[in-house]
Amino acid sequence: MKFAQSSRLFSLSRETARSIAEEAARLEAAGHRVMRLDTGDPFPFGFEPPAELIRDIAETLTSSAGYTPTKGLLSAREAVVRYHCARGVPGIDVEHVFLGNGASELITIAMTALLDERDEVLVPAPDFPVWTDAVNVNGGRAVHYRCDESSDWYPDIADIAAKVTARTRAIVIINPNNPTGAVYPPEVLTGILDIAREHNLIVCSDEIYDKILFDDAVHVTTASLAPDLLCLTFNGLSKAYRCAGFRAGWLAVSGPTDHAVSYLDGLTTVAGLRRCANAPAQQAIRIALEADRSGHDLTLPAGLLQDQRDRAWAALNSIPGVSCVKPRGALYAFPKIDLNVYPIRDDEQFVLDLLLQEKIHLVPGTGLSWPEPDHVRIVTLPSAEELETTIDSIGGFLATYRQ
Ligand SMILES: Cc1ncc(COP(=O)(O)O)c(C=O)c1O
Repeated sequence: MKFAQSSRLFSLSRETARSIAEEAARLEAAGHRVMRLDTGDPFPFGFEPPAELIRDIAETLTSSAGYTPTKGLLSAREAVVRYHCARGVPGIDVEHVFLGNGASELITIAMTALLDERDEVLVPAPDFPVWTDAVNVNGGRAVHYRCDESSDWYPDIADIAAKVTARTRAIVIINPNNPTGAVYPPEVLTGILDIAREHNLIVCSDEIYDKILFDDAVHVTTASLAPDLLCLTFNGLSKAYRCAGFRAGWLAVSGPTDHAVSYLDGLTTVAGLRRCANAPAQQAIRIALEADRSGHDLTLPAGLLQDQRDRAWAALNSIPGVSCVKPRGALYAFPKIDLNVYPIRDDEQFVLDLLLQEKIHLVPGTGLSWPEPDHVRIVTLPSAEELETTIDSIGGFLATYRQ
């Protein structure tokens, strides 16, 4: 007798990423140094969490051994409420804040609590694939709307409008965006919110990169433009505070909630299935957000990241047949490879070949819900020099693919 996995998992997109990651691990086990540009985790690239944060969390460990309330520690949830209030979203009820083991867990909880079979959720293409998978594994259907590379990767409002159906329940916005690095101006957000308003959609705004901004980019939190809509804002400490391994995230529900009593109750029920998020990470949220209020900047040094972004972007654009929109935030570049110059039919195979030959690990665009095999995602966390050398090697490898 065989034990097969649930057929619900067949719809998930994670297989590609996993087989490439397994190959990378095999190469490393065989003694090769692999340039891992596949995961947006600052820590392995020398961005250590702030010492003050570690020290203060360590002090709370002796009192963190018990379960916490399912939604999370009240003091940490209060810190989240103040964080959003300072960003123009006043009046969030602390009972509508949920702490989780990373934003990823809360994305899954939010979708489990929301979806019935064949319900649809509008998700950006390209995307951070946990969104697509969280919808699909819960019996829903992720319907992808196009982000437009020729308009700084902003969401195509007409495409969104065309994809709303009677089954659409929610729309996902990722801003600043993984993988494109786009930061949306208020008018783009307003265009999306008008559609949500017209069709009674829940707005899910993933803002985990809200503090990783370059040049003069300004992040506007979606909920501040939508006080009349039910808005779920996702955030956490993994990126700006450099502690992805702590698994510290939050979900703040804002807007009118009288007509969402059942959904909020469902969120609490699903969150209760894992009893609570890990307690030291909840303390980390309180400490990080309180430090922010007192003027201590514990976030990533944006200047260094900006230099890396600049140099990676310039190096990518210097490869013939490769073009890259300048990222305005987050930790990635998402260059386009001209398929008339490089006849790549399968970007997964291309990424695998690059890994085997050059020991460079990227993510194929199709693994991020992009429909064509003409993009890859590169993490811009290594030093500028390492990025330039690596991108040079990618250019050399691409030359072997030339028509
Ligand atoms: C857009 C986006 N949202 C959420 C996450 C998940 O973050 P967490 O570590 O809090 O689960 C990531 C991680 O890469 C991300 O890129």
